[in-house]
Amino acid sequence: MLLNIASIVAVVLAAATATTEARPSGGCHFDNLLVFGDSYSDVGNVYKLSKGAWPLKAYDHGRFTNGPVWSEHVARHNHLKLKNYAYGGATTDSKFVQGYSGAASDLPVPGFIQQIDQLYSSKPIPQKDLASSIFVVDFQGNDYFFNPSASPVAVVQNIENGIEKLVKLGAQNILVVENFDYGTIPYFNGNATIAGAFSQAATAQLVAYKDLERRLAKKYGRPSDSKHPFRGACSNNNSNKKDKKPKVTFGYYKLNDLLNHLREPKVLKRLGITDVVHGCVSNDYKTVCKDAGKHLFWDAFHPTAKVHKALGDAITELI
Ligand SMILES: *[C@@H]1O[C@H](CO)[C@@H](O)[C@H](O)[C@H]1NC(C)=O
Ligand SMILES: *[C@@H]1O[C@H](CO)[C@@H](O)[C@H](O)[C@H]1NC(C)=O
Repeated sequence: MLLNIASIVAVVLAAATATTEARPSGGCHFDNLLVFGDSYSDVGNVYKLSKGAWPLKAYDHGRFTNGPVWSEHVARHNHLKLKNYAYGGATTDSKFVQGYSGAASDLPVPGFIQQIDQLYSSKPIPQKDLASSIFVVDFQGNDYFFNPSASPVAVVQNIENGIEKLVKLGAQNILVVENFDYGTIPYFNGNATIAGAFSQAATAQLVAYKDLERRLAKKYGRPSDSKHPFRGACSNNNSNKKDKKPKVTFGYYKLNDLLNHLREPKVLKRLGITDVVHGCVSNDYKTVCKDAGKHLFWDAFHPTAKVHKALGDAITELI
């Protein structure tokens, strides 16, 4: 009983702090969250492109999962306007590997480079709002799914090319969501050979991301607080500055670490997840389980809304 009262007090106190604290980002005022990515971030672009045919009705309103995706949680917590450039099936560059979506995987979708060149740059954020905009880059392996021999170094090079384009277009705050272990998805269940090959690509990609982090730090500097890189980002405010060299703040989120954490027995227990192997939707899309809440994966490729919530909370904390 005492414990209950204590936790109620704690909740009330937390709520009071949340409302009196002017900004969650230590003085920085962010207004926009722009997301470039694939099905891990798409909140309806493929649905629109396919005229409502994909993803299937069992999915949550054009999302590739059973509830809000991570970026929606982040936008809601931080009162950000969410701009979604992500397409299910997107690769890092359609000229490198063309990505597809749709029931028959026959709808070409814009890759990262094309999301910038064709979608963002025709209607960019006004100059004055760039300091208050966070650009997120989140690509989770479609290059390999559409071309298993794609090189991880080349994939990360495409991501770097896109980041440099965003910087040229004035982006000042860029968050890169690094990859998870692609070999763990239900799609590969029962085939250790192919799962192993995808795990190897994922590991090589994480090494390439480390190099990318080093290159960008050398060029643009490092945030003083890597756990909360964007909290000091206001001093970047290029619209206040006379000097030409743009300041850009980079943050990196390790999705693989989060998924490893979620797989720990005590965390699974707390989340009520009992199946980390099978998707709630079967690999052939024919059956849907009764309780998606018990699954880490929603279908052959995508995590459940519970994982998206955990990711959203983690990225909210980072921002
Ligand atoms: C950056 O400076 C401009 C002009 O002084 C101001 O309007 C804007 O709110 C500032 N942005 C941030 C993120 O503090
Ligand atoms: C595993 O996948 C590879 C590549 O697609 C295929 O060549 C092989 O036959 C599969 N093995 C099994 C046991 O299904």
